[in-house]
Amino acid sequence: MAKKGKEKDRGKAKKAKKAATQPMPAMPEREKVGFGIVGGGVIGPLHAQAITAQPDARLVAVCDIVPGAAEKLAGDYGAEAMTDLDAMLSRDDIQVVSVCVPSGLHAEIGVRAAQAGKHVICEKPIDITLDAADRLIAACDEAGVKLQVISQHRFGAGMQRLKQAINDGALGTLVMGNAEIFWYRAQAYYDSGGWRGTWALDGGGCLMNQGVHYVDLLRWAMGPVASVTAKVGTLAHERIEVEDAAVAVIQFANGAIGSLIGTTDAFPGYTCRLEIVGTEGSVILEDGEIKAWNLKAEVGEVGAYGRSKEAKRAEASQNGKGTGQGAADPAAISWGGHAVEVRDMIDAIREERAVALPGPSARDALELILAVYRSAETGREVKMPMHPKWRPGTKKVAVVAIPPAKKTPPTRRVAAARAGAP
Ligand SMILES: NC(=O)c1ccc[n+]([C@@H]2O[C@H](COP(=O)([O-])OP(=O)(O)OC[C@H]3O[C@@H](n4cnc5c(N)ncnc54)[C@H](O)[C@@H]3O)[C@@H](O)[C@H]2O)c1
Repeated sequence: MAKKGKEKDRGKAKKAKKAATQPMPAMPEREKVGFGIVGGGVIGPLHAQAITAQPDARLVAVCDIVPGAAEKLAGDYGAEAMTDLDAMLSRDDIQVVSVCVPSGLHAEIGVRAAQAGKHVICEKPIDITLDAADRLIAACDEAGVKLQVISQHRFGAGMQRLKQAINDGALGTLVMGNAEIFWYRAQAYYDSGGWRGTWALDGGGCLMNQGVHYVDLLRWAMGPVASVTAKVGTLAHERIEVEDAAVAVIQFANGAIGSLIGTTDAFPGYTCRLEIVGTEGSVILEDGEIKAWNLKAEVGEVGAYGRSKEAKRAEASQNGKGTGQGAADPAAISWGGHAVEVRDMIDAIREERAVALPGPSARDALELILAVYRSAETGREVKMPMHPKWRPGTKKVAVVAIPPAKKTPPTRRVAAARAGAP
C-alpha cells in the first residue's frame, strides 16, 4: 500500500515538473495590450524594447512626423509606421500610447492621446512648464485613463531600498539631501536636434533634460521643498539658450537642507550621485548603486571623530569605478527601468489600480527645476509653490560668462607661425 502511495506521489511530482517546464501557451494577439509609440528618435527604441519584452503586450504602430524615423523603428519590431497621429489614436487595437517626442510637446501629444481614450506613458520630464503638466494630468483624469511618467531610476534596487529605509524611519530624521549630476554632452549633441538646448522645446538644459532623473530621486527621497536659492550658467557650450551648469541650495519642508549640482560640461562624463543623511545613518547612491549604507542600528556608533581614516580610505577605493550609463552617451541607456514602468502600466490596467509613477509625482521634480531657474533669474530665494504659469527663458540669466577666446585672423596666425611662435 505504502509503495503504491509513493509511486502515486512520484507520478504527481513528475506531472507538476513537466507542467512547470512547459512553455506557457502563447496569449492570443487580440488579448495583448496594444501599444503605439509617438516619436521614433533616441528614446523611442527603448520603449519598443520594453514593450515587446512583455509577453502580454504588442507594439502595434509607431508614429513620427519624419516618415523615415517611423518606418525604421516600426520595421525593426514588425509594427505599422504612421505619420498621422489622429489616425493612430483612432485605432481600437491600441490601448496605451508612449510619448517619446521632444519634452515641450509631451502634454500636447499626451492630451490628444488621453482624449482619444488611450492610457499614456510619458517620457521625462512630464513637460517643461507646470501649466502644461497640469493640463496633461487633468486630461488623463477627465478621460479616466492612466498616466505613467518615466523616471526609470526610481525602480533600481538601490533606490527602492533607500526609499523603503526612509519610509521605515531607519535613517531617523532627514537632515541633508544632495544630488549631483556630473555629465558631459559635446557640442555635437546639442547640434544634433533643432529642439535640443532651446527654451521652447527642451525647456532647460543640464537640469531639465539630463538632471531631471536625479532631481526626481532627491525630491522623492527628501519630500516637499520649501525654498530654493540657485545660480545657473551657460558656460561651455555655444548655440544653446539653456544652462549647462547649475548649483542650488534647497530648504526642504521637513527642515532638512540640501543641494543640487548639475552640469553637462564635466568631460568625459562622470556619475550621478545621491547622498541622503539622517540622524540615524546615511546612504550614498552612485549611478543607482549603493556606494555607502551606514545605519547606526546596523553598524553601531563610531568614535567621537567618526570612522577611522583606514575605514574611509577602504570605502573611497570602492568608489569611482566606471561611469554611469548615459554619462557621456545619451543613447547608452539600459531599457530595464523602462520595462518596469511598462510592466506596471499593463498590470495597473488589468488590475484597475493606480500606476507606480503618476503625473502629480513627476510634477514635483519639474517644480523644483523651475524654482532653480526662477531663483537664478531673479537672484532671490524662491518660495514654493511655484506659480503654474511661470516659465523660464524670458529674462536674461545673470551669470558671469567666460569671454570668448579672441580669434587670430588666419593671415596673422600664418605670419606668427613663420616667425616661430607656437
Ligand atoms: N528616460 C530617459 O532616460 C530618456 C533618454 C533620452 C530622452 N528622453 C526623453 O525622450 C524625449 C525624446 O528625446 P529623444 O532624445 O528621443 O529626441 P529625438 O529628437 O531623438 O526624437 C524625437 C522624435 O520625435 C519626433 N517628433 C517630433 N515632433 C513630433 C510630433 N509632433 N509627432 C510625432 N513625432 C514627432 C521627431 O521627428 C523625432 O524622431 C525627450 O523628452 C527626452 O527628454 C528620455
